[in-house]
Amino acid sequence: MNIATTAEQLRHMLAPTRSERIALVPTMGCLHEGHLSLIRKAKRLADIVVVSIYVNPLQFGAHEDLDCYPRPWQDDVALCEKESVDFIFHPHNLYPSDGSKVTLSVTELDHVLCGASRTGHFDGVATVVNILFNTVQPHLAIFGEKDWQQLAIIHRMVADLHMPVEIIGSAIIREFDGLALSSRNRYLSEQQRQQATHISAALLLMQELAAQNTSLELIHQQAMDYLHQHNIQPEYLDIRDENNLESIQHLGQYLGQHQARIFIAAKLGETRLIDNMPLILNLEKTA
Ligand code: PAJ
Repeated sequence: MNIATTAEQLRHMLAPTRSERIALVPTMGCLHEGHLSLIRKAKRLADIVVVSIYVNPLQFGAHEDLDCYPRPWQDDVALCEKESVDFIFHPHNLYPSDGSKVTLSVTELDHVLCGASRTGHFDGVATVVNILFNTVQPHLAIFGEKDWQQLAIIHRMVADLHMPVEIIGSAIIREFDGLALSSRNRYLSEQQRQQATHISAALLLMQELAAQNTSLELIHQQAMDYLHQHNIQPEYLDIRDENNLESIQHLGQYLGQHQARIFIAAKLGETRLIDNMPLILNLEKTA
């Protein structure tokens, strides 16, 4: 396994592999089984796997956890080694020393869900992913469904800007009790960790209610009640079209056309957790 710390170094290292199929797995490190599932998928789909590890300052808000974001570098290297990753790209900084003068901006798709409270976050994500694509020039890149809005925005970025890279989504990896794995789970106290299980439980409750043909309004209300009963005040609990992230008013209007997806974000103490699931299982996707 090779480690590159500058874009030039990485390009130089990748030069002899250009005739092979290259997959990129972008991460911010602190790797867990969720990240590893992306790496394993990349190994299956490509000849060469590049994992980027970069805590991107551009996607953090002023009061977010940039400085204390966990950076267990040695553990990350060991995990990548174990997964037979070919290259780690671990740049110190990806931006010009006098600050970026040109960045990407996302519209509409970032007005909802996480984008509503994290102003500029998805501009930062789109910009860094663009830089990573330009540096690695991968045939394909793998992103987790855990960050569904991010995945939807990357899909649109690649389509709208004609980027020659295939975007592949990968299923959410969960703890035994349903909690979606996240690098931020380590911030949770024991009591918050217990409470956190109610987020995925609320999503499952919504699926159950949808299977009984409950109205969207009632599904929303019952899930809200469930979270409140467990002292969780969600930042949002939304039912949206999973492609364009538009709000869904009546389930019937979407059946057989688009998939409806349910999204929750909630802060437990200072730790912000997000999760999502399809509202209706086994609905054939045509969109
Ligand atoms: P990070 O939070 O490190 O996540 C890296 C990738 O791992 C993302 O595609 C994310 O969706 C995926 N992932 C995280 N938890 C997962 C889980 N439980 N199951 C499946 N996949 C999971 O997302 C980012 O970094 C950054 O925004 C990045 C894309 C690297 C740009 O800076």
